[in-house]
Amino acid sequence: MNGGFHLLPPAASAAAGRFDHLMLAVLLLIGIAGLSVMALIVYFSIRYRKGSRADRTHAPSQGRRIEEEWTFIPLLLFLAVFGWAAWEYTLLYRARPDAMPVFVVARQWMWKLEHVNGRREIDELHVPLGQPVRLVMTSQDVIHSFYVPAFRIKQDVVPGRYTTLWFTPTKTGEFHLFCAEYCGTDHAAMRGRIVVMHPDEFAAWMQSGQAQPGIAARGFELFRRHGCSGCHAAQSSVHAPDLNALLGRTVHLQDGRSLVADSAYIRDSILLPKKDVVAGYEPVMPSFAGQISEEDLFAIIEYIRSTGDRHARADQ
Ligand code: CUA
Repeated sequence: MNGGFHLLPPAASAAAGRFDHLMLAVLLLIGIAGLSVMALIVYFSIRYRKGSRADRTHAPSQGRRIEEEWTFIPLLLFLAVFGWAAWEYTLLYRARPDAMPVFVVARQWMWKLEHVNGRREIDELHVPLGQPVRLVMTSQDVIHSFYVPAFRIKQDVVPGRYTTLWFTPTKTGEFHLFCAEYCGTDHAAMRGRIVVMHPDEFAAWMQSGQAQPGIAARGFELFRRHGCSGCHAAQSSVHAPDLNALLGRTVHLQDGRSLVADSAYIRDSILLPKKDVVAGYEPVMPSFAGQISEEDLFAIIEYIRSTGDRHARADQ
């Protein structure tokens, strides 16, 4: 990073400039509103100080027009900023469909990341320039928060839940990754870096290192090893729901509810199988809580996704 004084870290993602504009607008608006009030306080204090010769006759007891103006003009301005910010916020959670997924597991006190091809990293994330990247994140212990100041993104990483973030890097180089939620003794040391590379370099990097099975292939292996296929395979004699192309499918449950299958639903079905029992089936599946790591849950979900995802957007 270059020297000199900067109020903000360099802006290195497609959304960073937009967030900076929004922040500037909010600062200006509250700055003008705050300073105007202070200036009037000072002005009136001096003008109407005890003993001053200000004209105190004919003071109006009410001024409807001025009251309406100072109520509705600021109200409209602040609502406009609210609308702008809310719009940006929704964009932050709607990843582009071509975004490259990366799976993130946080723990005290490190970041574990896995790419689709099975390449794993710790406290480091390599991504290609100009390519939207979508992070799917969870924690295996306490709440952490994935924070990249240069990209202007931050999202809590919560145990038992999947949260997502997405960004498009617009500058090559290395950028700080911090944990932004106090998570215990070494919270401050839970740091890493995002390395943005040219797409060719990134492709070479992805292929380098030990050959690994892709995350979905690893998931298939786990699916067999944990015995899931014993009941859920189409040709199995045990009566269990077919998981083929499950993601995005509408599932009807025994208690009359229905839902659209997403990652969280699959995760819950593995760890809390009694929670959402599919209509027409007995609640006989044992819980796998404590037996499958967060990384392996991601892999199993990606295996199921590889059999078909009817509605890629369902999983946002
Ligand atoms: Cu993890 Cu703070």
